[in-house]
Amino acid sequence: MSKQILILPGDGIGPEIIQQAVKVLECVNQRFALNYQWHFDSIGGAAYEQYGTPLADSTLQKARQADAVLLGAVGGPQWDNIEPALRPERGLLKIRAELGLFANLRPAILYPQLADASSLKAEIVAALDLLIVRELTGGIYFGKPRGQEVLASGERKAFDTLPYSESEIRRIGKVGFEMARLRGKKLCSVDKANVLASSQLWRAVMNELAADYLDVQLSHMYVDNAAMQLVRAPKQFDVIVTDNLFGDILSDQAAMLTGSIGMLPSASLDANNKGMYEPCHGSAPDIAGKGIANPLATILSLAMMLRYSFAELQAANAIEAAVGKVLDAGLRTADIAKAEASSVSCAQMGSAVVEAL
Ligand code: NAD
Ligand code: IPM
Ligand code: MN
Repeated sequence: MSKQILILPGDGIGPEIIQQAVKVLECVNQRFALNYQWHFDSIGGAAYEQYGTPLADSTLQKARQADAVLLGAVGGPQWDNIEPALRPERGLLKIRAELGLFANLRPAILYPQLADASSLKAEIVAALDLLIVRELTGGIYFGKPRGQEVLASGERKAFDTLPYSESEIRRIGKVGFEMARLRGKKLCSVDKANVLASSQLWRAVMNELAADYLDVQLSHMYVDNAAMQLVRAPKQFDVIVTDNLFGDILSDQAAMLTGSIGMLPSASLDANNKGMYEPCHGSAPDIAGKGIANPLATILSLAMMLRYSFAELQAANAIEAAVGKVLDAGLRTADIAKAEASSVSCAQMGSAVVEAL
């Protein structure tokens, strides 16, 4: 049976960047005789407009049946003030939770050609290759109770809850250790154990797991220090494992070390490596429709799909090498270009990757 891929372009720049990734998918599908099939559906604001909900049951059903999902981005100012439960972002959170995609891998790799696109000095980021393993289906994003109430005084009050169970921490911790084992054998667990109860359990479970991974060097760091260390000396990190909210924030920060958030791909995996693949960035409403978004994070997310869900390492490597080649050739979208005048469009970048393939 041929592999089935569900593609969810989403909102804002989502359709533009997905279009480029699909060009690359068509190319590798032929070149490596992969015989994949793919189909499209809506998520986020687009789904709200089409189905009245940011994730229709029928879409979720298709996602369950697919072998992998490729997603663009969701959200936009036009949906910022609708009922919270119908916001585009809820569609994304729901599909992650329903598919059990608890392990979010966000690799921040500096392509050497982009050393001067980073906002940090080239020598600080040269050869940067770190992996953030973010817990994706728990923590404060999903904790209950959450909500707003009006106090007797008439004042409004809002609250969120940050719960983590031992088993949730253990399964993401294992992914962190396993990934470190395949790489530089250093794992840094980032938490706020000096303040938060959930972080205290997090740290204890990480220490327990360490006994099973004697070949991996485990360290712990508070999240505020980690944010500072990421810009001071990012190359001290190999793999970072952290909770849902800290991972969200630190991965955007790590993205900038690589030159642009438009370069950072991600894989969200369940216990069996079934996955959803999406760039780490959002729908970029400020540049949507202008044709200038960087499609490389999405194209590199496709490469992650081939690697993690389908074990097509040759095809995955070929895509990554093609991205290297277009950067070698000096092609830059506006976000990574020195001067806007010298930049190429989203579509030109996608075509250049296809040609390099
Ligand atoms: P954002 O990532 O969309 O944009 C932040 C900045 O980065 C903007 O200036 C944008 O132009 C730029 N940028 C992002 N991706 C780019 C790319 N590929 N090429 C060039 N520049 C790029 O974050 P935001 O502005 O905080 O959020 C906008 C919307 O996206 C919100 O509705 C938010 O909820 C949503 N969002 C969705 C996801 C997702 O779908 N995974 C992730 C983050 C934010
Ligand atoms: C991301 C995004 C999402 C998150 C939002 C849109 C729900 O910021 O994928 O990083 O916070 O996980
Ligand atoms: Mn984010």
